[in-house]
Amino acid sequence: MKKFVTGLAAAGAVLLALTGCSAAASGGSGGDKAPEDIIVGFAQVGAESGWRTANTKDVKRAFEDAGIELKFSDAQQKQENQIKAIRSYISQGVDVIAFSPVVESGWDAVLQEAKDAGIPVILTDRAVDSEDESLYMTFLGSDFVEEGKKAGNWLVEEYADSDDPVKIIQLEGTTGAAPAIDRAEGFAEVIKDDSKFEIVASQTGDFTRAGGKQVTEALLKSNPDVDVIYSHNDDMGLGAIEAIEEAGLTPGEDIKIITVDAVKDGMTALAEGKINFIVECNPLLGDQLVDLVKKVVAGEEVEKRVVTEETTFTQEEAKEVLPDRQY
Ligand code: AHR
Repeated sequence: MKKFVTGLAAAGAVLLALTGCSAAASGGSGGDKAPEDIIVGFAQVGAESGWRTANTKDVKRAFEDAGIELKFSDAQQKQENQIKAIRSYISQGVDVIAFSPVVESGWDAVLQEAKDAGIPVILTDRAVDSEDESLYMTFLGSDFVEEGKKAGNWLVEEYADSDDPVKIIQLEGTTGAAPAIDRAEGFAEVIKDDSKFEIVASQTGDFTRAGGKQVTEALLKSNPDVDVIYSHNDDMGLGAIEAIEEAGLTPGEDIKIITVDAVKDGMTALAEGKINFIVECNPLLGDQLVDLVKKVVAGEEVEKRVVTEETTFTQEEAKEVLPDRQY
């Protein structure tokens, strides 16, 4: 994994050399502003998961530590709320707008408004699918396709010695969100070469615990012989555990569970044997975001893509790291 990240960093450096993006070149304020004179508007997705709570906390902490004013809004998982927040930051004339897009599509108009106003935008955590990359300065966050591949690789290894069919339920994240699209893609890419793996049902639980429980309850009725649940985040996986237990089954044994995130509740369930494998998605993006904001405001070049370093956890590894887990 570390090799992969290093490779990406190197690729990012090459990309920067080719397509380096500076605030001065793309409408940033430029010049020397003291941290206390910088104002950043941050439009967060919501508070849908343990991951999101940890991310919000870390972003607020990092800006406070840096002495930079942060205007914060919670979009409650609605794109229209996020667009309103971004427009409000534009009219307030903040120095930088940072946001984690609820869904991938539909941002070009508001991003163009920010660009026209000369306010640089930084994407954090999730990407947009805009073809015009000049609409944002940089994208800081995980490689979600790679996360999906890691989940698939564990599954392939786990069932390497069996030719029996493996029936999988996929709990998808928010429909249209980058992590939902990419984690499904990466997973499918890995399992597609072995016909014993079959995704028998795939439905959104909107990245929430309640959503994961509700969807699993319904899908267990139509697929009582399911072997594996692949959940796009810990929270939906934790909801699935409740549904499995209420159905009189043992999570982690009767039905194996793979999730993404590695927040404390997920890691606890992994250490207890109720989840079988977790792919980490790191929410601690605050310090890197502050660095990027400072560079963008100073008119320095920033890499167009900054990939977060992440790992995976087995049940044994979860037991080891759990006591020191920050979130
Ligand atoms: O975008 C990151 C994802 O969003 C996390 O995996 C999930 O828990 C969150 O809601």
